[in-house]
Amino acid sequence: MISVSVDLGGRRYDVAIGTGARRLLSQVLPRAVQQVAVVTQEGIGFDVEPGVPVRRFEVADGERAKSLSSVEELCRGFARAGLARSDAVVAVGGGVVSDVAGFAAAVYLRGVPHVNVATTLLAQVDAAIGGKTGVNLEEGKNLVGAFWQPVAVLCDTDALESLPAREWTSGRGEMAKCAFLGKLLDRPSNHPWSGDEGSWLHELPLEEQIARCVAIKAAAVSVDEREGDRRMLLNYGHTMAHALEGSLMRAGGDCDVRHGEALSVGLMFAALLARRLGRIDDDRVALHRKLLDSFELPTELPPGVSARTLVKFMTRDKKARHDLTLVLDGPDGVEVVPGVPQTDMLGTLVEMGCAP
Ligand SMILES: NC(=O)c1ccc[n+]([C@@H]2O[C@H](COP(=O)([O-])OP(=O)(O)OC[C@H]3O[C@@H](n4cnc5c(N)ncnc54)[C@H](O)[C@@H]3O)[C@@H](O)[C@H]2O)c1
Ligand SMILES: [Zn+2]
Repeated sequence: MISVSVDLGGRRYDVAIGTGARRLLSQVLPRAVQQVAVVTQEGIGFDVEPGVPVRRFEVADGERAKSLSSVEELCRGFARAGLARSDAVVAVGGGVVSDVAGFAAAVYLRGVPHVNVATTLLAQVDAAIGGKTGVNLEEGKNLVGAFWQPVAVLCDTDALESLPAREWTSGRGEMAKCAFLGKLLDRPSNHPWSGDEGSWLHELPLEEQIARCVAIKAAAVSVDEREGDRRMLLNYGHTMAHALEGSLMRAGGDCDVRHGEALSVGLMFAALLARRLGRIDDDRVALHRKLLDSFELPTELPPGVSARTLVKFMTRDKKARHDLTLVLDGPDGVEVVPGVPQTDMLGTLVEMGCAP
């Protein structure tokens, strides 16, 4: 078992990674807890034993579960179950469950403790850590939420045995991003997990790969809980990924691209854009492509999306501080780059085979 801590002063917590991590649940719950509300999904079937009485709640599958009405339903259920402020919510699932259950925990009785038991690779390396919780509105994804840190995160690698292939790929996209964010770790030169970009993603055992991604996220979150420059680096590849998700959603209702797949295309776009801006060379672009290919992640845009539409979405990304601020690779690694010319973004999309 590997433990990585998210250092937030009085709200510090540990992320436990490894086989059987779920068995730590009774130890990580606050002592005053007398009952637990477990929030999960029908298809997950991953049992936890908190050592106190459990009330079980299910949310629907997919992005539609991330709604204010799910939060209302959960909170009403908590109230009917008599969940007190000294009790706890335990989210057992992927990012959808931890986002919606975490937000319900943040607002029910103005905040109750919660633990994330992450059951997808994407949640284990990313979504379950860092305290961003929230739901979608018709107007867009993740528009309502709260920063509410869990009291612990359990990444039980046993849960991944039942994970569908496509969800593995999606998680791999987020891991590939981490390969380029080593500089977020303290003292890059002598941190045990710095250097050798990307190769660790193949060479280390799975739980160490996950731990390394968790350490990167933890490092960004602990110095910058509320998304200034450091935490923004975690959005590497995401500006274009969100634009792609947004435009596909607009085009066909349900968007048939997993987040990690969109992110993979977004990472390729970011590398090509950085080269166009003279920030990185061909070798560095090739490294991006090699890593993404090695996980059989997509690097090409799906047919039918237009460059202009994508740029329109990118300039609207809520994470952009103002128009066209992107996270891009450069001589000193990945950094926040303001003032990226729109023509270069368009040019890069056309270079990727996108119709203008
Ligand atoms: N809060 C954050 O910091 C953050 C970060 C990244 C992503 N997210 C959010 O996370 C969500 C995506 O999360 P996700 O990729 O985990 O998807 P998900 O939660 O939708 O899970 C994917 C599918 O796998 C199923 N599943 C979960 N665990 C399983 C298991 N062990 N075995 C079999 N099936 C299992 C789920 O029921 C679901 O059908 C998005 O809504 C995204 O916005 C949040
Ligand atoms: Zn992501």
